Amino acid sequence: MKKALVTGISGQDGSYLTELLLSKGYQVHGMIRRSSTFNTGRIDHIYRDPHNGDKTRLLLHHGDLASSVSLANLISEIEPDEIYNLAAQSHVRVSFDLPEYTGDVTGIGTLRILEAIRRSGIDTRFYQASTSEMFGGAAPPQTEATPFAPQSPYAAAKTYAHWVTKNYREAYGIFACSGILFNHESPRRGETFVTRKVTRAVAAIKAGKQKHLYLGNLDAKRDWGYAPEYVEVMWRLLQHGEPLDIVIGTGESRTVREFLEEAFGYVGLDYQDYVRIDERYFRPTEVDYLLADPRMAREVLGWEPKIKFKDLVRIMMDADLELLGLEAPGDGKRLLSDRFDGWHRWDDQLVSMDK
Ligand code: NAP
Ligand code: GDD
Repeated sequence: MKKALVTGISGQDGSYLTELLLSKGYQVHGMIRRSSTFNTGRIDHIYRDPHNGDKTRLLLHHGDLASSVSLANLISEIEPDEIYNLAAQSHVRVSFDLPEYTGDVTGIGTLRILEAIRRSGIDTRFYQASTSEMFGGAAPPQTEATPFAPQSPYAAAKTYAHWVTKNYREAYGIFACSGILFNHESPRRGETFVTRKVTRAVAAIKAGKQKHLYLGNLDAKRDWGYAPEYVEVMWRLLQHGEPLDIVIGTGESRTVREFLEEAFGYVGLDYQDYVRIDERYFRPTEVDYLLADPRMAREVLGWEPKIKFKDLVRIMMDADLELLGLEAPGDGKRLLSDRFDGWHRWDDQLVSMDK
């Protein structure tokens, strides 16, 4: 049985990746942070308590990217075949408020893992969650050859992590890869990222629980995809014959305003009647236009996304409407079962968990 260690297992991507790895027969070790409230809501549906005599291939351990001791202990004790580093302070706006912390966790945290791998001497494959934010101000479309131009402490920290991953591959022969992922969303997306903030608000407005939605820059363009499809490519990357860095996105870019039109329009509302601008949500430096050229992912890994912008909005809207007990038009769920023949068992779990 293959063993994987997943940092950031309690996040959006960590939860989907864990489902995928369990479905492939892996034993999955997840690192979670100590928290005064439960922080495992996204994985509770797949966790089995061994005290109940349940057999489980999902094991959770406390640790932190800020602690090299915790990382070294976990890696040498578990001896994982694959390590997926998904943990990060991942919010761009917040990184301007917490630049030092973001640099430590999102940047140096990656170095701590690589160093623990090197010192342990174990033969493992390492995945780094790199990001299209590293391209920042670079002109679209962005490819593996586009020079980085980070525009935030978060993006600068991720760029450091990206380069140090490449350096440990070249210097020490570690099988270390970076997936340069463009924005990917789902019903499990954190509530303060713009897509989920919008879909939750539309549902709350429809339910009569909210009057207005306060946002920042509506003109930024993002290449938005569907998170479960993106975790599949993380796994594929580590199964490849040689370590690579690769761009993952849909090749389609939309403005925040277009997302608003689509989400409000889905339930028959006009966003202009509800959306207000609050300067607090603007960033000191913005990334205006992200658009992936995912040709290499298609050619080398055979990966192509099935869910594009409109479908994504529907999937997220249906889930948030259902969460508030509202009747959802249902297109989103239909799309999931139509497009993912072999997959929709775990997508059903997704829907029930997100309730
Ligand atoms: P997310 O939902 O924000 O999850 C982040 C995870 O990191 C959570 O499990 C969080 O734990 C954990 N974490 C935060 N600080 C930590 C620390 N000091 N030590 C250990 N764990 C810590 O992020 P996501 O959307 O799943 O993204 C996964 C990764 O991909 C992140 O590295 C992100 O930067 C990167 N990325 C995301 C996208 C995207 O569009 N989603 C695109 C490109 C790259 P808690 O649950 O306790 O907070
Ligand atoms: N969060 C947020 N909240 N963003 C807003 C708001 C708001 O109220 N109003 C407008 N926006 C704009 C932001 O200025 C940005 O241009 C765009 O919406 C997307 O913001 P986010 O959803 O916060 O995502 P992000 O693109 O900054 O970062 C996400 O994607 C990166 C990959 O490109 C995160 O998941 C990062 O971790 C990830 O690396």
